Parts: sequence; C-alpha cells; structure tokens
Amino acid sequence: MRIDILTLFPEMFESPLGHSILKRAQDSGIVDIALTNIRDFATDNYRKVDDKPYGGGPGMVMMPGPVFDCFEYVQKLSPEKGHTILLTPQGQRFDQVKAAELSAEKRLILIAGRYEGIDERIRIGLGAEQISIGDYVLSGGELAAMIIVDAVVRLLAGALGDEDSPKDDSFSESARGGLEYPQYTRPEVFRGMKVPDILLSGDHAKIAEWRRQQAIERTKKWRPDLLKDNNNKNEKSEG
Ligand code: ADE
Repeated sequence: MRIDILTLFPEMFESPLGHSILKRAQDSGIVDIALTNIRDFATDNYRKVDDKPYGGGPGMVMMPGPVFDCFEYVQKLSPEKGHTILLTPQGQRFDQVKAAELSAEKRLILIAGRYEGIDERIRIGLGAEQISIGDYVLSGGELAAMIIVDAVVRLLAGALGDEDSPKDDSFSESARGGLEYPQYTRPEVFRGMKVPDILLSGDHAKIAEWRRQQAIERTKKWRPDLLKDNNNKNEKSEG
C-alpha cells in the first residue's frame, strides 16, 4: 500500500511513523508513506496558506490554491489514483469497519486541514471522502491522520509479526464488533490475582467458549452501545 499525507506539519509525523509497527511495516516494504508539505505550494513570498474568512468572523481559513496544487502534484507521484480522504470533524466517524475497508485500498491520500477551517471549495472540488475520528475538535487533522494510518497499517498482511493477531481484536468480526476477551501472561499469580484456571487447563474448546462468554459480558458491561449498534445493523439487514 502507498499512503500520501498532505500536511502543513510533516514533522509531527516523524515520531509515530518512526517506531514500532509503523516503522517495521515501512522498512519491510508493506507500506510506503510519503509526506508532502502543503506550504511548499504557497505562491507568495510569505508562504501564506491561510486567509481571513469572507463575511467576517474569527480565525483563519485554509486557502484552496495551495491544497489543490499540492494534491495535483501528489497524485502524479504514483500511477495509482488512490482513495482521497479529508480529515475533518464534519466527516463520517472512523471505526474498525472503516479501517478494514481502507486497508483493502492500494493507495490512500490523506489531507490534514489546519486552522479554524478550510475553504469549502477544497471539500467540493477534491471529491474526497470526509472522515472524523470522533465528535471533538482537534487543532488540525494531523493526529487524526496518524490514527487512521496506524489503524489501517496494522491490518495489512504481515504488519503484525503474527498473521492472526488482529483477528480477535476488539471490534473485529470474530469479536462480533464487541470487545476483546481478557488476556493474561506470566506470572500465574500477581499481587494475589490469579490467572483463571481455565486458561491453564489446556482444553482449547473450553478456553474458546470461556473467551467468547467473557467478550460478551464485558461488552454488555462496558460498551452496551456496541451491542445496540449490532442489533440495529442486524435489524437493517433483515428488514
Ligand atoms: N480535525 C479536527 N478535528 C478532527 C476530528 N475530530 N477528526 C478528524 N479531523 C479533525
């Protein structure tokens, strides 16, 4: 997969992309991530990329020119057209289903907006899918882009050492969109808390059933909204 990120702050990505799974995935050629600075496409001597809103009001608005020029430049960096995403709190909420969907793309182009807003013609003209990572407002789309990159890349084949490891994740199909079962490792007893006997039993069928039950119980207790979401989905698909 190739991922292009258009941003005014490419340095913000250095640390998250330079460690752990994201670094390994790049080093081993599973994903190629390229950062392009929108400011390099400013046309005036001050490298200006934002301006006052027409009609008045507080703050500055990202100008369409540099974003369009940057996007057109980036598109030509690879023959694959790519799926373009604009990070904005006004987008559809990102979740694990969306992460899985995006992980099937050959190329993603992520555009991180900054300042108080972006010129509406960026939204209209680029035909990008708008994605939000949650109902809160960040200072810019950079952190949102990093979250999407992380959630998508770890789903790519070979990105996690063990091919099976994303399979049982919370929100995955095997967790039926709910939470994951509890995990334990050594020691067997820690500060008086013991690993459940069943996990030491070696009975794989019983362990699988116990995990399934635990996953359902903790989803009911901690995230009942996920069960409601699933019921709604089932009702829709049946109706
Ligand atoms: N930019 C600012 N807030 C955001 C959010 N919640 N999701 C995606 N991009 C954003």
